[in-house]
Amino acid sequence: MEHELLTIKNNALSLILDAADRKELDEIKLQFLGRSGELTKALKGLSKLKKEDRPKIGVVANDVKTIIEDAISQREQALGKVQKKSINIDVTEPGTKPALGSLHLVTQAMREITKIFESIGFQRVRYPEIEWDWYAFEALNFPENHPARDDWETFFIDQKKSDKYGPVVLTPHTSSGQIRQLEKGKLPVKMLNIAKCYRRQSDVSHTPMFHQFETLVVGENISISDLKGTLDYFVKSYFGQNRKSRIRPYHFQFTEPSFETDVSCGVCNGRGCKLCKEGWLEIGGAGMVHPNVLKNCGFDPEKYTGFASGWGVERVLMMKDGIQIDDLRTLYGNDLDFLKQF
Ligand code: PHE
Repeated sequence: MEHELLTIKNNALSLILDAADRKELDEIKLQFLGRSGELTKALKGLSKLKKEDRPKIGVVANDVKTIIEDAISQREQALGKVQKKSINIDVTEPGTKPALGSLHLVTQAMREITKIFESIGFQRVRYPEIEWDWYAFEALNFPENHPARDDWETFFIDQKKSDKYGPVVLTPHTSSGQIRQLEKGKLPVKMLNIAKCYRRQSDVSHTPMFHQFETLVVGENISISDLKGTLDYFVKSYFGQNRKSRIRPYHFQFTEPSFETDVSCGVCNGRGCKLCKEGWLEIGGAGMVHPNVLKNCGFDPEKYTGFASGWGVERVLMMKDGIQIDDLRTLYGNDLDFLKQF
């Protein structure tokens, strides 16, 4: 009797596991637990046993029953609930709106910047952000021992050096795009290159990855006044007509003369305050394209001149009225509560 019960259990379990759908499972249930099911019949046979054998076999029989019932209900769950025949739907109930995302703050800024420059004839271009030393430094007139070229400032890619182009770096500025553009050999050029840049720095006002937007205009008779005019047009379009711009002497390897470019502070209107100290906020570098850069790209510096500028996307974004972020790293922290505000 005990052996018979265990055989029933084993048969039932293997059939239950193999059941492909609810219908099959219901049939199996009937086959074993139904009124004339195999187990039911076996249980009825208990009464024919000798009195002293009944308790022991009774326990086994009950165990087998519970095991089969549990296996069926587990399999039922695995196969999924039966669909209700009728569902009450209130068609007048308002639906659930799908969640809408929005563009990241920095993407919004890049789009706005692009629009402004496109409206005065600049063409948006994209060049590699993982670049050879030649494009990031050498062709831009950087001397061999310039500090930007060591691995305290720039990220180097672990890859074999090229004999011609040197090691591979993550572009520390968008100026590498100047060379990519000029090596195409076509003038005049009026490009806007917006890209990610990478530097080994991370604090409240720096992130290791940030964005720059770079202009490059090369042709005949391009002068400093073209640079100043473009700067002023950008500043007034992006920050507001009441803002002023200025250029100050500075030094870059790939421009001569070089400048830092400033915009008047929006908080104090250029009078000087806690934020700006002397009324001006810096947006980045600029200058007249260095003759060596033109030569490196095959152009005669006696005939052609140009200007270039490289400004920070995050920087202009933060300076825009109304946006106050006290730690730049917040921009890339992926905190939805922060991002949802914009
Ligand atoms: N590449 C410079 C920087 O990252 C900015 C710059 C661009 C300066 C173009 C002059 C001309 O600081």
